[in-house]
Amino acid sequence: MAAERFLLMAVAAVVVAAGGGGAAEFAYDGFRGAGLSLDGMAAVTPAGLLLLTNDTNMASSQQNDTAMSKGHAFHPVPVRFRRAAPGAGGAAGGEVPSFSTTFVFAIVSEFLDLSTSGFAFLVAPTTDLSPAMPQQYLGLFNSTDNGDPRNRVFAVELDTVRNPEFADINNNHIGVDVNSLNSSAAAPAGYYDDADGAFRNLSLISREPMQVWVDYDAATAAVTVAMAPARRPRPKRPLLSTNVNLSAVIAGTAYVGFSSASSIVLVKHYVLGWSFSLGGEAPALDYAMLPRLPRIGPKPRSKALAVALPIATTATVLAAVAVGFFLLRRRRRYAELREDWEMEFGPHRFAYKDLYDATDGFKDRRLLGAGGFGRVYRGVLPGSRTEVAVKKVSHGSRQGMKEFVAEVVSIGRLRHRNLVPLLGYCRRKGELLLVYDYMPNGSLDRHLHGGAGEPVLVWARRLHIIRGVAAGLLYMHEDWEKVVVHRDIKASNVLLDGEMNGRLGDFGLARLHDHGDDAHTTRVVGTMGYLAPELVRTGRATTRSDVFAFGAFVLEVACGRRPIEEEEEEEDGRFVLVEWVLGHWREGSIAGAVDARLGSEFDAAEADLVLRLGLACLHPSPAARPSMRQVTQYLDGSAPLPELPATYVAFEGGEKHQHQQALFDSWSVWRTTSTAAMSFATMSDIGISGGR
Ligand SMILES: *[C@@H]1O[C@H](CO)[C@@H](O)[C@H](O)[C@H]1NC(C)=O
Ligand SMILES: *[C@@H]1O[C@H](CO)[C@@H](O)[C@H](O)[C@H]1NC(C)=O
Ligand SMILES: *[C@@H]1O[C@H](CO)[C@@H](O)[C@H](O)[C@H]1NC(C)=O
Repeated sequence: MAAERFLLMAVAAVVVAAGGGGAAEFAYDGFRGAGLSLDGMAAVTPAGLLLLTNDTNMASSQQNDTAMSKGHAFHPVPVRFRRAAPGAGGAAGGEVPSFSTTFVFAIVSEFLDLSTSGFAFLVAPTTDLSPAMPQQYLGLFNSTDNGDPRNRVFAVELDTVRNPEFADINNNHIGVDVNSLNSSAAAPAGYYDDADGAFRNLSLISREPMQVWVDYDAATAAVTVAMAPARRPRPKRPLLSTNVNLSAVIAGTAYVGFSSASSIVLVKHYVLGWSFSLGGEAPALDYAMLPRLPRIGPKPRSKALAVALPIATTATVLAAVAVGFFLLRRRRRYAELREDWEMEFGPHRFAYKDLYDATDGFKDRRLLGAGGFGRVYRGVLPGSRTEVAVKKVSHGSRQGMKEFVAEVVSIGRLRHRNLVPLLGYCRRKGELLLVYDYMPNGSLDRHLHGGAGEPVLVWARRLHIIRGVAAGLLYMHEDWEKVVVHRDIKASNVLLDGEMNGRLGDFGLARLHDHGDDAHTTRVVGTMGYLAPELVRTGRATTRSDVFAFGAFVLEVACGRRPIEEEEEEEDGRFVLVEWVLGHWREGSIAGAVDARLGSEFDAAEADLVLRLGLACLHPSPAARPSMRQVTQYLDGSAPLPELPATYVAFEGGEKHQHQQALFDSWSVWRTTSTAAMSFATMSDIGISGGR
């Protein structure tokens, strides 16, 4: 019996190569035994479903395997799209003829209302799409070749994210893509009902199977796309139709198939059946033969109640009242704040309930740390089992909230191996929750200042971390589409991933406090000792003030001491790291400032470079500081670090030029404010954050 069924399934895939014309036609009612050419995450399930993605991007990025964060499936035999038309000759080798395809799919996200990617039907000159990127690139293109006519890729995307960078119309659309993710034409998912001609919305992530038809008409060079819920006839009026001459796009011989990519939440893209025809209409799918989707989750609760209530007894009424109380309490517990303007940030929005469940209700034992900006909890997202760090930031007013969330979402698209990925956010009354990738080795602060029990970080590791943080900061300052100022660089905001790479976290958070609870006072944010003099003066953060903070960070890592420490023996009760290192430098023994716990276990030339670089970054005059690009060049030795500028402030007496006097004054202000501020709140900032 089973063997018979298997045979039927296998036979369901019919490939007809009709003579010399190169016409191809096939139909898969399920994919068992189909022999598709698969790569990456794509797989055929035992039931015969084509599963394009089966993982989150985080899981695969932790394995450092970009191939595994995408999935492609192709009909195994390439299709000859170009007949050598009699008399046509020439390089074009004839026109691409009409073709037609249809498929039934379903998108199943671990969250009912959230998906962070999509998938596409595609025609490509090769099955090797290894240069393509995951996430919003759908495994089709990458940031360099998107839009390049040499791609020769035609695709129809089913996209569940609105990406402004590709001018997407919404987070639930179908688009016709020619060599680019910037669709030539797009329409919200849905169909025109034959009965009354009205448009009916369809939600791509509804978990319901739906069917799509794509046709290319060579005579008019037009692509039409239609869709409908599965088992419904094809709507007479197509969803969208656009003119594009595919003769200029599709290669003579090309592969047809599907492409998808993983993203931050677990989303499974299933194809249940698929047919294709070159020169004719795609064969109809046999719905009875299509494999079934696995059942997802428990049965909806409302159904159970509907059965229970008619047979109500006193006991069940009491139970219903209890359920009512339970639901009411539940509603309060999980209440969150959601406003209209957040619609467009949908994909980055987490449900409070999911975060509550992920962190065991924000139990203290899940606490990773607490600092100036809030408490951080460790959690595991239900479904994908992804480990996350959830930061709770209390926020009194909603002023500036919209801008801030927009910025967080935008910054959330920053992707760099030295930045902690920000996955999304959630909002409640007076509270903002930020969801980050979990970093197993905690904050650098703990490793540097952890106390007697902690093993001492070796020099090579310290240098590696400094280089990593410099690379992450360079990306934020110069290599991303927008300039992002971090505003709060310090050891406790540098986290260590599984391989002990330094990653900058908490970017943009300082900005939230800029929009502070009390709009009348402009509070300077950041952490004293890392704040550039001009920032203390003007309150304006720039890339140059980030460089200053980076300089303080570099000295902190190399010397194992905080930028400013309370100390009895010092004359004014303060130890100021930069002055101490400057002192060593003037005496010609700068390496003497290196963390004493390292003994002689460090490279003297490297230490000399790192410490002088730290001082250069800490120059009181912003213009005299190097840019992050220069910093990385000095660190990797591709450019020599210049001698410290002669105008570098000299603390001890003597004649000062006017310019030097100005710097000295600015430095004195910095020293006074920085050290005076030590006495109150910031102590907790420096002392506690990330310390647990
Ligand atoms: C998808 O992933 C799950 C969990 O890793 C695994 O059990 C399952 O076999 C995978 N499915 C396929 C079709 O590979
Ligand atoms: C379809 O969805 C759009 C956007 O969500 C909405 O504006 C429109 O009213 C919906 N139309 C119908 C018929 O439900
Ligand atoms: C499409 O382009 C080909 C050559 O690239 C041309 O021969 C053909 O006429 C065009 N089709 C239409 C409908 O314009």
